Amino acid sequence: MRIPLIAGNWKMHKTVHDAVFFAKEFRGLVKDLTGVDIVIAPAFPAVHAVAEALRASNVAVAAQDVYWEREGAFTGEVSAPMLADAGAEYVILGHSERRTLFGDTNATVNRKLHAAVASGLTPIVCVGETLAQRDAGETLVVLDRQVKESLDGVTGEQLSTMVLAYEPVWAIGTGRNATPDQAAEAHTHIRQRLRQWFGIDSAEQCHIVYGGSVKPDNIRPLATHIDVDGALVGGASLEVRGFADLVRKVIA
Ligand code: PGA
Repeated sequence: MRIPLIAGNWKMHKTVHDAVFFAKEFRGLVKDLTGVDIVIAPAFPAVHAVAEALRASNVAVAAQDVYWEREGAFTGEVSAPMLADAGAEYVILGHSERRTLFGDTNATVNRKLHAAVASGLTPIVCVGETLAQRDAGETLVVLDRQVKESLDGVTGEQLSTMVLAYEPVWAIGTGRNATPDQAAEAHTHIRQRLRQWFGIDSAEQCHIVYGGSVKPDNIRPLATHIDVDGALVGGASLEVRGFADLVRKVIA
């Protein structure tokens, strides 16, 4: 049985000081909540400090990206063992901003994913179509390709602990969320593919969360569908009370 997961993706926001301030208040606001997995993804400099501030709480920390090599001459990159050591338990992979601005492809996402798993990090793998692809009727084909190639070489056992995030690119940061029916169609399709490719049990355990302009007032209709297991939240995760409110709504 999957319990919902809500992950806040802070993107390039918050200094270490601001991030820790948020974490300390947030842990108190959500400490009594059960039946939901809660994750915060700060920028790299704040990962360790936020993990410390959330120690022994019900909130886990994610990084927003990783490089696949363990160490070496890779200026500017951060490895999975470093992130695990810093206190991260999850890592977001293949976010559309990384795909469009920084050259991530399904192939690099796949390498990052295997590195993450080898270090005990849980990947949150982002997939989603652009508006042009949706308008051309290609949404499900695009999702198939992204899921298949990003998860190449993954075992059913590994898949069962992973998180996929369906994030239509046109809904990210635009205030225009997918309708509950659009999200449900994509999630149900992805879950069906996971059944085919990884087996029924693994597909049932893998989380598929929705992302794209999720707010406290639209999380309920989006996340009540059987195949929508929570949300990856950008802008609405930056304000502490609003984000705590959003988390509470998903289990209300
Ligand atoms: P948004 O971002 O909630 O601000 O649309 C979602 C995401 O990029 O993960």
